[in-house]
Amino acid sequence: MMPSHADRHRPSEDLARFAARWRTERQLRLLSRLPSAGADGVRFAVLGDCEPSRFWLYRKLFNREGVFAGHMHAILKQRVAFVVQLGDMVEKGDPHRYQRFLRDLRRVGGGRPYLTVIGNHDRSRPNGKSHSTVYRTLFGASNYFFDHAHTRFVVLDSSAKRLTPSQLRWLRMVLDTPLRKIVFTHMPPVHLGLWGGTGRFHALGGFVGGAREFSQAVAHAKVSRVYMGHVHAFGVQDHMGVRYVLTGGGGSALFPSGNSDRFHHFLTVEIGPGGVRESVHELDGRSFDVPSAPIILPTREHSHSWAALAREAGRKILRAAGLA
Ligand SMILES: [Fe+2]
Repeated sequence: MMPSHADRHRPSEDLARFAARWRTERQLRLLSRLPSAGADGVRFAVLGDCEPSRFWLYRKLFNREGVFAGHMHAILKQRVAFVVQLGDMVEKGDPHRYQRFLRDLRRVGGGRPYLTVIGNHDRSRPNGKSHSTVYRTLFGASNYFFDHAHTRFVVLDSSAKRLTPSQLRWLRMVLDTPLRKIVFTHMPPVHLGLWGGTGRFHALGGFVGGAREFSQAVAHAKVSRVYMGHVHAFGVQDHMGVRYVLTGGGGSALFPSGNSDRFHHFLTVEIGPGGVRESVHELDGRSFDVPSAPIILPTREHSHSWAALAREAGRKILRAAGLA
């Protein structure tokens, strides 16, 4: 008998057992036992997209081997309580790809609580109609929150390129707290189009459905930060009083996205009496602090010229072929 669609995407018992140590509920239990749980401040790391790309040409042109492992080694040398990975950990959400990623993570993991955000690549198909069964079977709920160091951390599933009305209701409910608030989600809301935003025509730009409502909800709740990946670049934008930080340089291919700040990096975030401060850590060990002065940029639907992207891709192809 042919296996059903659901069976083909169900992780084996062996994989589920192997993945059990990374389940969100276990990571949150570990986190709750740390001294920083009830402290006034905490320091943590945020790591963006690290899937190596399904396509040979992308890997050849825009990728670099070993970046994820390099970042994890560097993170473990930092004084951080936990790590949040912003999604797109695998090229496509098949059980065998998760197995390979979790093996890599076991090699470099180092025992700090490691929390995941689901990205579009972590679904059964990166774009188009897809499901998140494998992610949810291995890690647990894709929308969740936890409180640590007088801060509410909210993880929101934007992997299907939209937020549903019930997600938005849940978001408003969990943000209704006097605690400081931080949100992690894989895709930027599409109207912050400066980060490769291409509106409705390509998933690159960010999530569309519920995007404006999301921005209104985080502004109303006075959220301190929204951390996002998906676009493989770095950027900061203050919008309606909320600071959005794009940090998509965890190891995925740095292909042209209309964003000039494309480099591999991770963040360390310090929460303390002075507020929230980020440092950006590059692959070569250099780091810089993100200035706190507001960065107000015009939002728009279409932020780059396709002709410029095509020219850049063409130059890379010629260079790789030794013709330029
Ligand atoms: Fe993505």
